[in-house]
Amino acid sequence: MGVRIQSLTKAFGELRAIDDLSTGFQTGKISVLLGASGCGKTTTLRCIAGLEQPDSGEILIDDEPVYASARRIDLAPEQRRLGMVFQSYAIWPHLTVAENVGLPLKAQKVAKAEIERRVKDTLAIVGLAQHADKSATKLSGGQQQRVSIARCLVGDPRLILMDEPLSNLDARLRVEMRHEIRQIQRRTGATILFVTHDQEEAMSLGDEIFLFNKGKVVQNGAPEELYFRPSVRYVAEFLGKANLFPVSVRGGAESGLVTARPSGQVIAQLPGSSQAAGEMLCMVRPESWRVSPAGGPGLPGRVQETTFVGDRRELRVETPIGEQTVVTAGFERFEVGEGLSLTVAPEHAHLLRDAA
Ligand SMILES: Nc1ncnc2c1ncn2[C@@H]1O[C@H](COP(=O)(O)OP(=O)(O)OP(=O)(O)O)[C@@H](O)[C@H]1O
Ligand SMILES: [Mg+2]
Repeated sequence: MGVRIQSLTKAFGELRAIDDLSTGFQTGKISVLLGASGCGKTTTLRCIAGLEQPDSGEILIDDEPVYASARRIDLAPEQRRLGMVFQSYAIWPHLTVAENVGLPLKAQKVAKAEIERRVKDTLAIVGLAQHADKSATKLSGGQQQRVSIARCLVGDPRLILMDEPLSNLDARLRVEMRHEIRQIQRRTGATILFVTHDQEEAMSLGDEIFLFNKGKVVQNGAPEELYFRPSVRYVAEFLGKANLFPVSVRGGAESGLVTARPSGQVIAQLPGSSQAAGEMLCMVRPESWRVSPAGGPGLPGRVQETTFVGDRRELRVETPIGEQTVVTAGFERFEVGEGLSLTVAPEHAHLLRDAA
């Protein structure tokens, strides 16, 4: 169910925009496609929509193949029964809000009374009921984007594709619209694929995040999964700030003891049996370092810089394992040059396989 992609490839000349991609997006969830500019997010969406023809592979929507190179299946966009919302609102200025939303139904020659009923219901879902008869251009940016979301919902698509729909809005409205989109998803049960390169937007909106790099999915999972348990360094560094340093994990009698390389500084004692021994990379998120007075147990450090950001305070702390970024509550005070100790709970010392 949902969307399944098998061995999908799309090249532009020498460049593989999608590189042998196999993945799946669940029904009734918001799946966020996240990644740096040029990693293939838009191309993936356009292939699913039928706006771009892949070179090979398969795309199935609700188990129906809409594209399958081996079987020569390639449905036209209008046969795929999906809706799209883009960065630009594509609103008709000479039409009212209700007329804009009703356009797809009018094109399908749906009866007038039926159009009126469905437009009314859909405008209620996106919170624009009282604006139905206004000229669409009289609305704010956020409201106009809701018109384009309503126009996409009105056709009752089985799948909604959104490509950076909030990028043109100011910061405050963007945050508001994230909640709106979540609410709309809950009310309609729609399956949504949402493209962004904004990691905060991805984490606050996604039921599942798919982090892309060079036309492939590097890791997918719940936002917490990617943030706290990244599988590789690329994911750790893409989402939020990560302190990364090389460590050795002991086996045998000292099983699970994590020490920094080369200093030998003890970082954590993990539950022994669950850990493979060897040389690994350790990730500690800035808010996972616990700060205690100098001379206590843990990693000795000295404050190099403090930045007050209101709800939190960011510290740069020099330690024997390199400079660490530490985040504390905003009301906690630190002076530059002050000594302190850093410790981390075993569950927040995350080990990665790839070499430093
Ligand atoms: N029509 C095209 N012709 C040639 N190259 C293209 C075309 N469309 C996309 N590309 C290239 O394919 C790669 C993937 O592009 P795509 O638009 O999918 O990236 P994206 O992840 O959406 O990036 P952004 O975050 O900047 O929107 C890029 O290197 C891009 O330059
Ligand atoms: Mg794009």
